[in-house]
Formats: sequence, C-alpha cells, structure tokens
Amino acid sequence: MDTKLRDGIDWVGYVDWTVRDFHSYVTSRGATYNSYLVQDEKIAIIDAVKAPYAEYLLKNVSAKVPLDKVDYLVVNHAEPDHAGSVPAVVAACPNAVVVCDEKCKATLGSYHDISGWNFQIVKTGDTLSLGKRTLTFLETPMVHWPESMFTYIPEEKLLFSMDAFGQHFASNKRFDDEVDMCAVMEEAKKYYANIVMLYGKQISKVLDAAAGLDIEMIAPSHGVIWRKNIGTIVEAYKNWVVCKAEPKVLVIYDSMWESTKKMGEAIIAGATEEGVEAKLIYVRATGLTDIATEVLDAATIAFGSATLNQSMMPMMAATLTYIKGLKPTGKAGFAFGSSGWGKGGAEEIDEFLKGTSIEVLREPIKAKWRPVPEVVEELKEAGRLLARKAKEICSL
Ligand code: FEO
Repeated sequence: MDTKLRDGIDWVGYVDWTVRDFHSYVTSRGATYNSYLVQDEKIAIIDAVKAPYAEYLLKNVSAKVPLDKVDYLVVNHAEPDHAGSVPAVVAACPNAVVVCDEKCKATLGSYHDISGWNFQIVKTGDTLSLGKRTLTFLETPMVHWPESMFTYIPEEKLLFSMDAFGQHFASNKRFDDEVDMCAVMEEAKKYYANIVMLYGKQISKVLDAAAGLDIEMIAPSHGVIWRKNIGTIVEAYKNWVVCKAEPKVLVIYDSMWESTKKMGEAIIAGATEEGVEAKLIYVRATGLTDIATEVLDAATIAFGSATLNQSMMPMMAATLTYIKGLKPTGKAGFAFGSSGWGKGGAEEIDEFLKGTSIEVLREPIKAKWRPVPEVVEELKEAGRLLARKAKEICSL
C-alpha cells in the first residue's frame, strides 16, 4: 500500500473494513481512521485512531521510527474514533508532547486520565517548527465538536483537515486518484449530510479561512486523501454548507395497510407531471443514514404516516427526530397520512414539522381508511405544488 503523502510524511492509520455501524451511521463501505507521521528534525504524529486499533498505529509508526523518538502527538479532535487511542500512544511514546487547543485538553481530560501527560496548548495562528517544516494551527470550532482544529504545513501545501472532507470508505488505496471517485463522492456527501449538516455555518467560515491557504493536498481523518480532486470536494462543500437544493421532491412515508403508500404515490404522480425528480422513500426499507443524504439536496419533502395508537408510526417519528436535529435549511413540505378514526399520524407530523427548520406549505392531507378519488386529486395537486416550490427554491 502506498502510504507516502510527501517525502517523510506517511499515513500510519487503520483501515476498518468490517465496521457497519458508527453511532447509528450505517458505514456500508467500512471506514478508516487516518493518522499521519511527519519525520523531520522533530517527529510528529498527527491524530490517532480508535482505541482498539492503537496497536496497528504504533506498529506502523515503529516501522518508520523508534517510538521514543516521537516528539509530538497533535490531537486535532477529541472524539474517540480518533483520540480513543491517545492514552496508548502517550504510554508507548514517552517523549511525546500532546499538542492541542485548550478545549481539546479539557475534553481529553473528561475521557481519559491525563495526569502525567505533557501538553503544548495551541490556538489559531500558532506555529510549531519541526525543522524544515512548520505545523500551523487553525481552530475550527463546531466542525464538528467545540475543540476541533486543522493543522497545516505550508512548506508542503498540506492540510490535515480532521473530519472535514472525510468519507467512510475502506480501501487499500490512500489517494483520491486511485479509487472510484463516484463512490468516494457518494460517501463524502453521506458523511457531510449525517455528521456535519448541522454545522453548515461553521464549515462555511472554515472554507473562507482555508481559502487563504495554498493547498495541494487535503488529508482528512477518514477515507481517501485529496490530491487530484481538491476542487471537486471543495466545490461540493460550498453547495452542501448551504444545503443547495436540486429540483428534487421527496415523499418520505410509513404505511400500515398501504393507504398512506397510495397517498404518497399520488403525490409522486403530481410532482412527476411538473417534470422534476421525485422519489418515494419507505422509512422501513431505507435507513436514516441514506434518508439524511437524500434530504441534503432535496428542495421539498412530503412526510406521511399511517396512524398507530393515535400517533404517527414509530419509524416516521425516528426519521423526523433525526432530520430535525440536522436542521436542513431552505426546505419546504407538508404532512399527509391515513387513519381510521380520530386524529392520527398526519396531524402529529404537521405539528412536529412546525418545530423544525422545514417550511410548512399547507395543512395536512388526510384520508379516512382509503384515499377516495377526491383525496387522490388533492394529493396530486399537492405533488404539483411541491414540484413548483422546488423549482422556485432552486431559482433563488
Ligand atoms: Fe471522526 Fe468527529 O470524529
């Protein structure tokens, strides 16, 4: 495996081929925890790996340099998928000083016993000379934790971007030009939608700050390293930070005896008449990870549920809760659903939507038992409304 980023700078992380669940994020293509070794007059490890894989990191490092020669361990992010192995690295590298920002030290102290660790606290603009190369630090708060930070080596035009620009993508190849870019961009979009969509404003600020840097290579903490397609991923991020919409309508639903499904199909039929892309998504057949990815660039969304115990169905409640937390911007939609008696799923979804970032376009559409022809017509018209609104949003 080619692990060399530059002369004296290598990837020393771990490829997690089998992981499929990452705190509920479905990692269908596995993951990597990227760690990097910079060998200069001083030697630095940039970021660590998940705790169970410390031995792999240490083996990769010790194949290059004796562990007692490591001078610095830079911790750009305290989340355990990277910093979980920091105690093992500190124990194995007795001369390593942990380099991080103040908030990161506090977070590390919450997860680990840091007594006896040597720290060098840095902030934006601080530099650390390794000899021929300089580590330059840029704090990136809430991208996506408060203590997050980038490390940049100007002499190499190399940015260590931590989770930003990452993808959950296991491969024995380390660089973007060695793998299927369609698959990598699909995973990068999924990663953005599920991990950082909520922090679009903060990412936008980081993009502005990074625009002032001369960058030839971006080395994130997950997935492949960007060296050929930097423009592609940065452009994609510029669209994603504003949830830039495509003229795309989603109908996300759960159904009991197919009445709500038929309602969703009628909405799709109406939207299709207006010539836009429209997708019917059944929440019990599509995971939350993929639903969030679809929401990222959708313009309008109808949410439907049958009624169960006078409420919406449980997987629709889970879906709405997840989407609400991600705070997608610039979207509009409405609720629909069937019930046999009393109030039910449609009304509950409508109430829920009013507490989200999604604009509610109209009152909920309801069917009693089965959607009668008049209701089907109303649903088709609502589908046309979603499509027209989608075009309007995309023209803004
Ligand atoms: Fe990959 Fe936020 O940790």
